[in-house]
Amino acid sequence: MEENKIDRRNFIKLGSIGASVLITWPLLNSCNGLAAQNDNVDLNFQADVDIELTAKEANVQLLPGSKTKVWMFDGNLIGGDKTAIQKLGNGYLGPVIRVKKGQKIRIRFKNQLPEESIVHWHGMHVPEKDDGHPKDVIGNGETYIYEFEIMNRAGTYWFHPHPHGRTGPQVYNGLAGLFIVTDDEEQQLKLPSGEYDVPVVIQDRLFDGNNQLVYLSRGRMDKMNGFLGNRILINGNLNRELSLKSGCVYRLRFLNGSNSRFYKLAWEDGTPLIVIGKDGSLLDRPVSMLYIMLGVAERVDLWLDLRDRSNGSQMVMKSLSFSHGMMGMMGGMRNRGRNNLPLGSTYDVLKISLDREGSNNFQLPQKLAVFNKLDPATTVNRSNPRTFSFFMRRMQWTISGRTWEMTGVTKDETVKLNTTEIWEIVNSGGNRGMMGGGMQMPHPFHIHHLQFNILERDISGVDSRIWNSVKDGFIDSGWQDTVLLMPGMKVKLIMRFEDFKGLFLYHCHNLEHEDMGMMRNFKVE
Ligand code: C2O
Ligand code: CU
Ligand code: CU
Repeated sequence: MEENKIDRRNFIKLGSIGASVLITWPLLNSCNGLAAQNDNVDLNFQADVDIELTAKEANVQLLPGSKTKVWMFDGNLIGGDKTAIQKLGNGYLGPVIRVKKGQKIRIRFKNQLPEESIVHWHGMHVPEKDDGHPKDVIGNGETYIYEFEIMNRAGTYWFHPHPHGRTGPQVYNGLAGLFIVTDDEEQQLKLPSGEYDVPVVIQDRLFDGNNQLVYLSRGRMDKMNGFLGNRILINGNLNRELSLKSGCVYRLRFLNGSNSRFYKLAWEDGTPLIVIGKDGSLLDRPVSMLYIMLGVAERVDLWLDLRDRSNGSQMVMKSLSFSHGMMGMMGGMRNRGRNNLPLGSTYDVLKISLDREGSNNFQLPQKLAVFNKLDPATTVNRSNPRTFSFFMRRMQWTISGRTWEMTGVTKDETVKLNTTEIWEIVNSGGNRGMMGGGMQMPHPFHIHHLQFNILERDISGVDSRIWNSVKDGFIDSGWQDTVLLMPGMKVKLIMRFEDFKGLFLYHCHNLEHEDMGMMRNFKVE
């Protein structure tokens, strides 16, 4: 399957050159059509869900006055159940794609942007050709066909562009969407569904006086630190109010879709947050927390019970204050004169208005998912974990001193198919190299290809002021693909490489760090 990749891409690129070939795409639904056009297409691939996803320029009304120029994903269902695509409000965010484990999905990604792009399905376990690797970018007017089976368990995943050096600006311009997977196990739990299953994508943006998005206004400093906006958006909209029904129970699916900002989420009135899922799984049982640290690209599913709330009341979710260890001078300079939303300050994120009455009857299950966590005894490197350190060297963010190479991969980054390993991820902050060696920053670590379990979080190197301000906000159970490392923190992750050989990515999901090269390949062979 892998060896077909190049031919297949050539075909797709060729296809986009001649309009006559493009016109034949709708015909490709039939096996014969596919066979006639491309002998690399899997003839047995019968898509249960067939979607056209177009990235394009658009103008949306976010503020009074001028519309804002954005880039957005437009989804169009070609085949399959209508529920597979759901439009999310009237902001810029892409559609919510909903699929079930075991289904086969075809996505025809059409690039109508003025630059190259490729889409990555964050958290999904797919072959290399479907992972949205930066080397697979396509240009304006071209189409990339993804065809894969949904192998992940029920969870909240998402999609976004992944062209190297341009992921930050493309996501910032509006390109992102949720990818929600359900399975039989989840469906038996009868969790809130339909209108009671509500996406909440949190992002921050900065607008100029003409309502246009501003990115990297401070140039290099924004790249080093990561970009911060001065306004919070929910589901691609500045209207941060969700209207829900009193008397009902909801499942809220949070995604931190920001470029670099992360959050310490809590209800203003002190109501505990009931967590039922994180990234790629439900937890084994619900967990009650007073606040949640939600790093960039992380997802968390909450159970929200509004049965005792009165009609007409409100709930506010805030991001509470915390320390993050970034150099005071930079944080201060950034925030002075630009905005009133420094990272780690207190501000409102979301308002829930209970402006209608209703009732539903969902019960919170005491047991959610069945867990077979990976066992350290089954790993090939138990006594000698593979270690990757995230630090700055010569004003450049690196992973163990290395930066991005399009297809480069070292022996240290090569693993064997069908093995289980422990990886130790270290945020080692300063004291390496000369310039910028003292720069400390949180890094959200993300790996493609799999979901891991967190074995341990070592905080012995974390400043106690930082740790005390965040320590009750981490969810270390479940299957996850992204983990937030505060400065000085080390985490041990256990992960299994299965099903697909190939080149995949691991990186910092602070999108400015990623674009600067804090991203590497690993190879499964
Ligand atoms: Cu969310 Cu490499 O991606
Ligand atoms: Cu990813
Ligand atoms: Cu980083």
